Parts: sequence; C-alpha cells; structure tokens
Amino acid sequence: REYKIAVLPGDGIGPEVTREAVKVLERIAEMDSSFRFKTKNFNWNSEYYLEHGKMMPEDGLEQLKEFDAILFGAIGDPRVPDPVSIWELILPIRKNFQQFINFRPVKLLQGLESTLKKEVPIDFVIVRENSEGEYTESGGAMFHGETREMALQNMVMTRQGVEQIARFAYDYARANGREKVTNATKSNVMLHTMTFWDRLVEEVAAENKDIDYERYYIDALAAYFVQRPETFDVVLASNLFGDILSDLGSAIVGGLGLAPSGNINPLGEFPSMFEAVHGSAPDIAGKGIANPIAQIWSAALMLEHLGRKDLHDLVLQAIEEVLVEKKVLTPDIGGNATTADVGDAISDKLERI
Ligand code: NAI
Ligand code: MG
Repeated sequence: REYKIAVLPGDGIGPEVTREAVKVLERIAEMDSSFRFKTKNFNWNSEYYLEHGKMMPEDGLEQLKEFDAILFGAIGDPRVPDPVSIWELILPIRKNFQQFINFRPVKLLQGLESTLKKEVPIDFVIVRENSEGEYTESGGAMFHGETREMALQNMVMTRQGVEQIARFAYDYARANGREKVTNATKSNVMLHTMTFWDRLVEEVAAENKDIDYERYYIDALAAYFVQRPETFDVVLASNLFGDILSDLGSAIVGGLGLAPSGNINPLGEFPSMFEAVHGSAPDIAGKGIANPIAQIWSAALMLEHLGRKDLHDLVLQAIEEVLVEKKVLTPDIGGNATTADVGDAISDKLERI
C-alpha cells in the first residue's frame, strides 16, 4: 500500500524543518520496500493569505480529506495577525477532521541532559483534549472603551468530548505498558466544567482499574513537572492545561527544537496531522539553523499512527545516535551544524542500524 501524505510546510522555519522530515521518510522508503509513500505539497501559508485574502481555498478541507495523514510545518508571519492563521488554518483542520487528541511525548532522549540538572529518566506523554474546553469561539465583548466594557469567553465541555479523550488515555496506557494516568484538573475552583471533567474521567478510571489513577490541581502539577518529572506516565489534560503543560514538558527535556506532536483522529475517518510543537520562529527563519529533530520525530509519530511502530522506533534510534555522538547538532542544543546537516546525519544513521 502506498500512503498519501499531504505536506503543509507553512511559514518561517516550517518549510526548513519539514524538508528534513521528508528527507528521512524518503530514505526509509529507499531502504525498506514495504514502506511506500507519495507526498503532495500545499502552499497554504501567510504568503498565500497575502495574495488571496484567505489561508486556504474554499475546498481546502475537501482536498486534504483524501490523504492518509498530514505533515504540517508551522504557521505565523509578522505580516498576518496570529488569530487569522490559527483560526483559519490550524483550527479548522483540527476541528473538522475531529482530531480530538493532541498527543505530545515528553521524553529525555539519550545524549541530552535535562535542563533540570538532575539525572532522572523522563519519559511520559501528555494526552491533551484538542477540540473543545477552553478554546472555543463561544463568547463576545461589549461596551468597547466604556467603563462597563466587558469580555466573555466560554469554556465548553461535552460528555462525548471528555469521555473520548479519557478513554484514549487509558487505551494508550494499556497498549504501551504504561502504569498510571494523571488527571490535570482545577475542580477546586472551576465549579461547573472541571468538576464535570473529573466525574467523567473518574468513571473511565473505574472501568480501568488495572492502571493507576491520580489527580492533581494544575498549579501543583506544574511544580511537580519540575520537581519530580520521572514520576509521570500518561498525563491527561484539557485543551488549555495541556497546551501549557506541553511547553513546560518540552522545556525540561531540551527545548522546543525537540518537541513533537500528533493531532489524532483515532477512528481514522479523517487524516491525522503531525507537527512540531514549535512555531515558525521568525527570529531564526532563513538562516538554516533551525533544529529539525522535533519535525523528524513528528514524522516518526506519523509512521507509528500509520501502523509502522517499527519505523517510528528506527527513526527515534537514529535521532538518539546523532545526539549521543554530539558531532552534528544545531545551535539551540550547543552545536554549529545546519538544519540540513542534521537531516543528513539522521538519514545516514538509518542505514547503519
Ligand atoms: P516559536 O516556537 O516560533 O519560537 C519560540 C523560540 O524558540 C524562538 O526563539 C525560536 O527561535 C525558538 N525555536 C523554535 N523552534 C525552534 C527550532 N526548531 N530550532 C531552534 N530554535 C527554535 O514561538 P513564537 O516565537 O511564540 O511564535 C512565532 C510564530 O509562530 C507566531 O506567529 C505564532 O503564532 C506561531 N506559532 C505557530 C504554531 C503552529 O503553527 N502550530 C505554534 C506556535 C506558534
Ligand atoms: Mg502551544
């Protein structure tokens, strides 16, 4: 079977790191005849917006629908307001393709030192609700500029939304030999939504007694990420809490250049989308020094999602070998290699494993 992969390189360093991820996929296909794929590039980025007045064509989602997966670079350009690129491109894809899981590994790779300056193994995943919660269009603002000016932003939680993310966390834990699910909450203060979230999560926990369950308030949990990150396995969080926790998670294991993610539609009715956690990094765009590891690792998550866990593991091993050797590293992790050098080094390792 030949996989069809839509590639949206985006803006800034998006195209630079995505090129390296595709390079790695091509090298795998050369080595392993059982993995065949075809890519199609879509230039829906801020340049496209400046020319056409929208982030993608009217039938953009229709065009993407037929692909097996989407590899997304990053979007964001100083000439286009951020809410435009986010609400007109990223969020329509996440929401319409029912990618209600945002999956973010937090793993200290071999060859890297934790920013926490202590030697503990860090290896957990954040399972973030990706389609409702705190990030909805529901709300409004009134009385602009007056003393009674006000703004309201609603948080929406549905039984279906919470149950499906909780079930995914437990199914993932069981399938991957994980022993514990940690629920990130704030039900001591958020009376309606977070108490509802806890009740549904705990119903699912009760169906999965073979896996340990614990619950922490988000503020305390943020501190525990720093104080004892080695104690976490699967962290289950709402949209906002998961967003913040995953940047914190990436910071303790080497930074944004090393943080991958998947936006997953688990039932497979629509394509899932894989992207580095970082943005378009205008400060280093065009210099050829962006770290491509986050995007190459995201492509590896895509391989796992497509049923090739063996190839995911191979890519991760190649990344770790390059990190352990410390010869070809980008400046963000203490080297002076280029983006392309790192992509080449990882591709070459694949052949020697
Ligand atoms: P950012 O992630 O682009 O950059 C933050 C810092 O990390 C910068 O100093 C950057 O140079 C560094 N950095 C990021 N990725 C790196 C890599 N691969 N290698 C080395 N250094 C790296 O976040 P920022 O600056 O807040 O946002 C820039 C633009 O990106 C904004 O327009 C924002 O809206 C957009 N953005 C888009 C995302 C997406 O497409 N999913 C996610 C986050 C931000
Ligand atoms: Mg974020």
